[in-house]
Order: sequence, then C-alpha cells, then structure tokens
Amino acid sequence: MKGSVPTLERDALESLERRVTRALASPDEPGPEVLGYGEISCVLALRFDDGGGVACKRLPPFPSLGSFEAYRSCFEAQLEAFEVHDIPVLATELHRVGDSGSGLIAYCVQPLVDRSALAPTRLAREPGTHTIETVLDLALAYVGPTRGFDAQLSNWARVDEDLLYLDVSTPFLRDDEGRERLDVDIFLASLPWALRGFVKRLMLRGILDLYYSRRGVVLDVLGNLIKEGLGERLPEYVPVAARRLDEPVSVGEVRRHYAGDARTWRLLQRLRHLDRAWQRHVRRRPYPFLLPGPVQRHV
Ligand SMILES: Nc1ncnc2c1ncn2[C@@H]1O[C@H](COP(=O)(O)OP(=O)(O)O)[C@@H](O)[C@H]1O
Ligand SMILES: [Mg+2]
Repeated sequence: MKGSVPTLERDALESLERRVTRALASPDEPGPEVLGYGEISCVLALRFDDGGGVACKRLPPFPSLGSFEAYRSCFEAQLEAFEVHDIPVLATELHRVGDSGSGLIAYCVQPLVDRSALAPTRLAREPGTHTIETVLDLALAYVGPTRGFDAQLSNWARVDEDLLYLDVSTPFLRDDEGRERLDVDIFLASLPWALRGFVKRLMLRGILDLYYSRRGVVLDVLGNLIKEGLGERLPEYVPVAARRLDEPVSVGEVRRHYAGDARTWRLLQRLRHLDRAWQRHVRRRPYPFLLPGPVQRHV
C-alpha cells in the first residue's frame, strides 16, 4: 500500500458515526460532508483542524461480530492479492466503531485525496492514452476466475505521480468452486427486502461475472467513461483496449454495454429510494443507509 492513513484522534470515527445516525434519523439534519457515492458505498470526509483529513467509507451494518470478522479476512485477502499482483493501492485501514441499533458499523479509512487528483478529473485534462493504458494493464494482469476487479476510472487517483487504486471496500474474490468469498447478503441489505432474493437469484451472478472476466472489465472501464462525460474519447481508447484482448471490442459494443449497465443500476437505485420513502413515511422508522441523490450520468 502507498502512503499512510493519518492517525485519528480517539472517538473521531464514533463522532462521525453519531452525525451519520442523526442525519439518518432526521433527514433534515445536515449530515457529514460526502466525498463521493459509488454504486455501493458512501464516502464521507473527516476533516481535521490542521487542514488535513481522511476519507471514510461506511460499510453496510454487520449483523454480528462473526460476520464482521469474516469480512475482515476477505478484505485482507484481497489486499494480499493486490500486493502479489502489483496493484498499487492507496493506504487503507479497516476500523470498527461499535454497535448501532441496526448492527455493527465499520469504516474503511484512507488519506483524503484531492478531487483534482481523482482519475476522472485528471483524465479530462490530460490528452493521450497513458492513463487508460496503465489502468487496463494493471487490471488485466490481475483479473482471473478467482480474482475480480472493478477497474473503473472513478476507482483510481494519482498521488505523487503514482496511479493508485482506492476502491478496496468490496472484495471480489471467489473460491475454486466459483463461490463469492464475500457474504454478499450484507451488501445486498440496502435493497428492499422483498427484492433481495430476486436480485440475488437472477441478477447478481451476471453483475459480478463481469468483474471476473478480462472482456467484462475492459467493457466496464470503457463504458464508464460515458458516465464520466468522456465518451468522446472512446474512438481513441477502444483500439488501445482491443489490442489487449483475444476477441476485440468495438465502440458500439461499449455503448450497448454501458446502456444496459446504467439501466440496471438506475433501477436498483430507484428501488432503494422507494424503499427508503416507505420505511420513513409509512413504517415511520429511520432508514439505515446513506443513499446517493440522483447519480450524475452524462448519458
Ligand atoms: N480516499 C478518497 N479521497 C477522496 N475521495 C474519495 C476517496 N475514496 C473514494 N472517494 C470518492 O468516492 C467515490 C466512491 O468511492 P469508492 O471507494 O469507489 O466506492 P464504491 O465502492 O461505492 O464505488 C470515488 O469514486 C471518489 O470520487
Ligand atoms: Mg468505486
């Protein structure tokens, strides 16, 4: 891992979590500063008086200490796999903050990266194919049947001229029988209860398979450029990517892939928002997850 996570003052994460809990209980209460939303987690800023700070990724609540320990071992196994395969990773620590009413809460804590250093911002200002080639080469050297990888540009940052991977909170690892090592139920908990079984049986395998295949990873990285507003670069990037695959990809295929992917995530997102409204206004209980507002998609 590159860099180091600044030492946190005692109770710093507990007090961040209290602010999150308050914001979840009363939606009008301003919550902590949000650095970014991925499809899964929500990344919060914890700023220090001296101008420094850390990025804190709130994991979904764990139902028991055992399930948290199982997550920890999966998280560590992934960091080890990254190390073995030379994926440069931004320093990350896993911290448990204690028990909320709805389960055990933990955060992945990292140095706070300036927005201008995040890869999508960098790429928008930088001509050429260097960054995308680096991302593809790192990803393709890593990915395999037991090692999945979400190489989207939004998961990388340039820190002191190194391109570092930062999205380490959802380990994509499978055992030799092809079973996910992560307990996916914990990460599916933010979906409406009635839909979880459906998503798990019919959609999840397909969504996850993408990250375990070379072609899937390439389609995903390129498709996400459209989301980042960089779709006009595809004619330049697609040939660069195609050279690295046995069965090349085309701009049309990337666009079709992205359209399907965006539909899936939009649907899941909408369902979560509906469920939140139901929980708050009909069941009259706090909704336990921080959800993104409308996700910015350029198409
Ligand atoms: N260490 C960090 N410093 C600043 N911003 C960050 C940091 N980590 C993540 N972010 C922002 O939050 C977004 C989501 O984080 P990520 O780890 O990719 O979560 P997810 O698993 O939900 O995709 C990133 O794309 C980025 O914009
Ligand atoms: Mg991400």
